Amino acid sequence: MQNTSHAVMAQRFEAADSADDFPTPPWATRALIEHVIGAGQVRELTVLEPACGRGYMARPLGEYFASVEASDAFRYGFGTHRDFLSYPFEAKSHDWVITNPPFRLAEEFVERALTVARKGVAILARTVFLESVGRYEGIFRDRPPTKFAQFTERVPMVKGRVDAKASTATGYAWFVWEASGSAVPRLMWVPPCRKILERADDYAASSRA
Ligand SMILES: C[S@@+](CC[C@H](N)C(=O)[O-])C[C@H]1O[C@@H](n2cnc3c(N)ncnc32)[C@H](O)[C@@H]1O
Repeated sequence: MQNTSHAVMAQRFEAADSADDFPTPPWATRALIEHVIGAGQVRELTVLEPACGRGYMARPLGEYFASVEASDAFRYGFGTHRDFLSYPFEAKSHDWVITNPPFRLAEEFVERALTVARKGVAILARTVFLESVGRYEGIFRDRPPTKFAQFTERVPMVKGRVDAKASTATGYAWFVWEASGSAVPRLMWVPPCRKILERADDYAASSRA
């Protein structure tokens, strides 16, 4: 019998031309800063969130960075309207580029982000992004991330909104490239931290788009 449990069905299978509108629960972005990059490392820096959607990642980034610029190729009423892959962002124009890109364009987003960022790039993607001959040849062989940080908890994502009660069968990780990082990728785990980093109003913001 086909498995139609909510957790399995919550995986992100999207049409080829879809926006892949799956906002990130804010605690997962706080986890990047608290457990992978370090809050003290970014306090004076700028960050671009180039696929910001409704701002669920841009807002928590604003809790840590000196300034956040947010844009998206689709209109959600948050940020500027720009396609990250075609808009002429200047090379090295932002200290960091941090996003959860549409999965089908994630490789192109990494390529582009590595030219736009001065200090670092952090991409939230399914753990399986680490696989594939195409991505190995296109990115990982010559430009491996400096850190691969696997979430120990699940990061449930739901189409078009955030939902505190959602579940998922999909594992996620932060893929991080730091200009000052080691040539040998560091394998890390994001420790259990959802309870500590989650705030009640993270989900109330769902209607505030
Ligand atoms: C998985 S959602 C993540 C949204 C947001 N980064 C977050 O974490 O809450 C992917 C986002 O990429 C946007 N997007 C898709 N193609 C894009 C492109 N070429 N340039 C910029 N944004 C794009 C979608 O509109 C959507 O908001």
